[in-house]
Amino acid sequence: MSGTLPPLAVQLPAERWRTAPEDLLAYSFDGTAGLRQRPLAVGFPESAEEVAAILREADRTGTPVVTRGSGTGLSGGSVPVEDSIVLCTTRMNRILELDRQNLTLLAEPGVLTQAIHGEASAHGLFYPPDPSSQKISTIGGNVANNSGGLRGLKYGVTRDYVMGLEVVSPQGEIFWLGNKCVKDVAGYSLRDLYIGSEGTLGVITKVLLKLVPAPAAKRTLLATYDSMEAAAATVSAIIAEPVIPCTLEFLDRKTLQCVEEYTGIGLPTAAEALLFMETDGHPAAVAEEAEAMERIARGEGALEVRSASDGTEAARLGEARRSAFAALARLRPTTILEDATVPRSELARMIAFVAKTAEKHGLEVATFGHFGDGNLHPTFLTDERDPGEMERVHTAFAEIFEYALALGGTITGEHGVGISKREFLATQYDEGSLALLRQLKATLDPRGILNPGKLLPA
Ligand code: LAC
Ligand code: ZN
Repeated sequence: MSGTLPPLAVQLPAERWRTAPEDLLAYSFDGTAGLRQRPLAVGFPESAEEVAAILREADRTGTPVVTRGSGTGLSGGSVPVEDSIVLCTTRMNRILELDRQNLTLLAEPGVLTQAIHGEASAHGLFYPPDPSSQKISTIGGNVANNSGGLRGLKYGVTRDYVMGLEVVSPQGEIFWLGNKCVKDVAGYSLRDLYIGSEGTLGVITKVLLKLVPAPAAKRTLLATYDSMEAAAATVSAIIAEPVIPCTLEFLDRKTLQCVEEYTGIGLPTAAEALLFMETDGHPAAVAEEAEAMERIARGEGALEVRSASDGTEAARLGEARRSAFAALARLRPTTILEDATVPRSELARMIAFVAKTAEKHGLEVATFGHFGDGNLHPTFLTDERDPGEMERVHTAFAEIFEYALALGGTITGEHGVGISKREFLATQYDEGSLALLRQLKATLDPRGILNPGKLLPA
């Protein structure tokens, strides 16, 4: 089909479609290992009206449509399906308004998350959600996946900052959900239905975000331990204090060593676990909290507690933590990273289970993640060319998800269900709630054109 424009292509000027095989190749995968599929064509709309025109035609002809931002997803959510059209939002990349009175920012979906941070900060304001992919991921993708990040513990996730959305339905209707009101209890929260819907219900064409005042001060601490249990005990004691820092992250030994090899920033690598902790806010509160965190870390037997000397060092440490996935990806041909999440009190148990499961199946694993959120990233370092090993990875993940659910957790805390976790959703949801999910999808997208084969179990 390459080279031939599908009939709905007339909805955009020809130069905004890609159909050449080599172009399609670039849009045939996202950040998820082992998944690829060429679409029929990739279109680059510049307005909601163009999106609507494409969807109307797609709905009429029954053509599957997969929406995509930068393609950084880690569950296959933006991997094309067979004979689909990809709608790439990267040309809808304008910040439309920053409203100082209401502390809101209105943006098109293709704006990079980092650009949102930059615009907010230029006004002395702050947009807290910070997925590690922020330098390249788009705000539309963040909303579609309800992305998290390193500051989730104190500030929450993307959903907590979305006040309004412009959405195009698969029938090509453009509608607005939400407003700038701090309080609004009129009707069902339809906006929330689209947040985290992974492109299966509508296409997001505008996002109204909530901003908060930028914290005046921040302190960054590193603590190392000779056991993950001691790191876990520190996290529990900090929360029980009670102190809710901005960030409580951990790296296991293997991740720590990989990150240090990759970044060379001088992390203390002789440890079984490292905690990366940040507190932000009013200077007096930050000083008090940092003091408490350091005291608690030492009390729980930290080998070393180190404080970043200034903002530049703190930023470098944060970047190093955010590079964990990239750093680990250098070890073996295929990197499969998941995001099973448990109540934070269960995280140490979950980490031990991951290590035991990897050993049982003869697999190489590294684990890092958001300790304060109970959100871990067990990362299997493997090789997709070895079907036997891939089978064992799959079995190991099934066991990990099952254990996470048994501990009262979820199969995905950050990266969405997409393709890679859809079969596990049926374990997390009971029959009634799964039927409700299917009913919603069938009502909003009766012809099933939007991202078919994603999120819902087969
Ligand atoms: C992170 C991404 C992988 O936490 O979620 O770095
Ligand atoms: Zn994460």
